[in-house]
Amino acid sequence: MTQLPAGFAGRVVAWQRSHGRNALPWQDTRDPYRVWLSEIMLQQTQVAVVLGHYQPFLDRFGDVAALAAAPLDEVLGLWSGLGYYSRARNLHACAQAVVERHAGAFPRTALELQALPGIGPSTAAAISSFCFGERAAILDGNVKRVLGRVLAYGEDLSSAANERALWDMARELLPTRQLHEAMPRYTQGVMDIGATVCLPRNPMCLLCPVVEICEAARQGRPEAYPVKTRKLRRSAQSLWLLHAQAGDGLVWLQKRPAPGVWGGLYCLPVFASRQALEQALPAAAPLRDAPPFVHVLTHKDLHLHPVAAQLPAQWGGMEGGWFGPGEWPRLGLPAPVRRLLENS
Ligand code: ADE
Repeated sequence: MTQLPAGFAGRVVAWQRSHGRNALPWQDTRDPYRVWLSEIMLQQTQVAVVLGHYQPFLDRFGDVAALAAAPLDEVLGLWSGLGYYSRARNLHACAQAVVERHAGAFPRTALELQALPGIGPSTAAAISSFCFGERAAILDGNVKRVLGRVLAYGEDLSSAANERALWDMARELLPTRQLHEAMPRYTQGVMDIGATVCLPRNPMCLLCPVVEICEAARQGRPEAYPVKTRKLRRSAQSLWLLHAQAGDGLVWLQKRPAPGVWGGLYCLPVFASRQALEQALPAAAPLRDAPPFVHVLTHKDLHLHPVAAQLPAQWGGMEGGWFGPGEWPRLGLPAPVRRLLENS
């Protein structure tokens, strides 16, 4: 049995007050709409990038009802640059579920929040602890590392049973008093320790508020924890992107099917081979190959091969349509496609 250290929560809370991140724009509110939005944006995107998107999103969609009523295309447009667009589709579906199932008021417990689209157990606990002081545990990647080390938890987290055991310990480590004040600080504190001190490589144990009760530090081998044997299997895929242009800066874009890579976004037509791309065009169309580049997704490296083609504006040989320079910048576009269009 893993021994649980005494005093963990108190140290985290005290450290967060003086050394944690306290001035982020989503931290001066307990409004669940704002906190939920920030947590979804932060799920796979760094704070610095989220900072550029959070306020513009709120300026356009001031509350959950406004978001629920908006066309999905507009939500995807404002999400542009944050990546992982399934988050934006779930965000929209979640806003609609809050309006329809909960009369426009977010539920107050992690259990109910988890039943909504796009809200997993950690995000649910973050929202309920930040907004309502609920005693709910988070266990995202950073927090697994912090707790895995403090407890020197040596079981393989690739196994669901071991992960469940760590969840149970995460719950036992939570604050037990003054929850309304302590829970938000604790939740933010364990995340902040994971993001700024307890780094995957070369953790800064000298700066850590829990080093005295950290079993991995006592053993002198913090990097040995947590243990995860099953490696993420990455794949690679080559795609050819047709960059068809006509006069007046028109570009040909298609709406991508959902689900799938870039589902629901507008995109240059995608082909599995250069030959397939050629066959979709008039035989006489002059083609020009642009330098290929790699775009990294979570599970996959996309090797993208843009091929430019000049076509007459009357052409309409495939699904999609022409979009002018006043139109395409406002669409939800995959980040690599936006960069390609901006740089040509
Ligand atoms: N990542 C997920 N939630 C976060 C938060 N509240 N602060 C900083 N990074 C986060």
